[in-house]
Amino acid sequence: MLVKPARARASALFRATFGVPPLAAASAPGRVNLIGEHTDYNGGPVLPIALAQRTVVAAGPGEPGVLEAVSERDGRLWRHLYKEGRATDWPAYVAGVVAELQTAGVLAWDAGVRVAVASDVPVGAGLSSSAALTVAATRALLGMARGRLAPRQIAGVAYRAEHNYVGVRCGVMDQTIAALGKPGHALLLESASLATKQIPFHGRLLLVDTGVRHDLAASAFNQRRAECEAAVARLQLDLPEVMWLATWPMSWLGRLRKALPQPLRNRALHVVGETARTRFAAQLLARGRLQRFGELLYESHESCRRLYECSAPELDTVVAAAKRAGAWGARMTGAGWGGAALVLTGKGDGGKGKGDAKVVSTIRRAFLKAYGREPGITVVRTGGGARAERV
Ligand code: GLA
Repeated sequence: MLVKPARARASALFRATFGVPPLAAASAPGRVNLIGEHTDYNGGPVLPIALAQRTVVAAGPGEPGVLEAVSERDGRLWRHLYKEGRATDWPAYVAGVVAELQTAGVLAWDAGVRVAVASDVPVGAGLSSSAALTVAATRALLGMARGRLAPRQIAGVAYRAEHNYVGVRCGVMDQTIAALGKPGHALLLESASLATKQIPFHGRLLLVDTGVRHDLAASAFNQRRAECEAAVARLQLDLPEVMWLATWPMSWLGRLRKALPQPLRNRALHVVGETARTRFAAQLLARGRLQRFGELLYESHESCRRLYECSAPELDTVVAAAKRAGAWGARMTGAGWGGAALVLTGKGDGGKGKGDAKVVSTIRRAFLKAYGREPGITVVRTGGGARAERV
């Protein structure tokens, strides 16, 4: 059966739910982070790519003081009255965007909003379905209100919606790539300065979804963030002006080890090491040295597993099997504790990397043996950042 594109599904859902056509629609992509995990909220670099899979939000005006939201995923109509405080469940992400756009003066304080959401980005797989939603919602509501914001400002609105309103203490990576992504490119983003660089990416990547789902807000994510803050506070005894773990000098690792008790020491060692690795990886990518780049992916996974303790047995199984089968690199991607792993099998255009077939069958077999079920394996296609869609 031919599945309709998300754009058509969002528009149709809007009409079917509200009886009128939407006024505007927009989409934003999911993302895969190549390397630079748990560095963004520590002031370090990240290197994500935008996926071809997108979330579409169709929007129109509604009853003043009310947000009405419907998604093809749960099929139910949510009604949130602004005066009742914070929205719950997934509409909270949209309510957060509405609140931010009200603060920015794009929407009036009581502007009623209706949205319908359709998405091809899997939820909870570590592919940042939430940023795809907040960025697409921001762009769609701007279209509805005839407001204008630069892509970086759109990322900022989406970030604050998620961070301040929903209360997930995420970094800026996901919203930034969802707003600025470019097909065929990885985005090097320095989180402390927001400096960016688009780097052509010609690797062949597989995405292996372990099927293990996590709830970011409820998981160990916020705890890790608190540990990093505690580590910075202790390190300030040695370096009073240190603001971010990522700026700790590599040559002072001995001092860092001495200054921090466990588990803060391991968390900080991961962040400092991952920061150096990510900058090096970006250089290798820019020079087309994909195979060496792949080795850093394995190192990053090891650091996530051992030092940051954000992996999961299912992810470790995938990465070990990929290595045995001769893949150039593999690692967990996204926050971790489940979700997906990425596997670099070689160059996109028939390079010398081992063929996908052997890597795929080795991973399948290992996973089946360990967990009695098959993981979802897909070839990664890159996509572009947020854009307006026809309604
Ligand atoms: C989540 C957050 C990101 C980032 C990653 C881990 O996806 O939203 O900001 O911190 O985890 O690298």
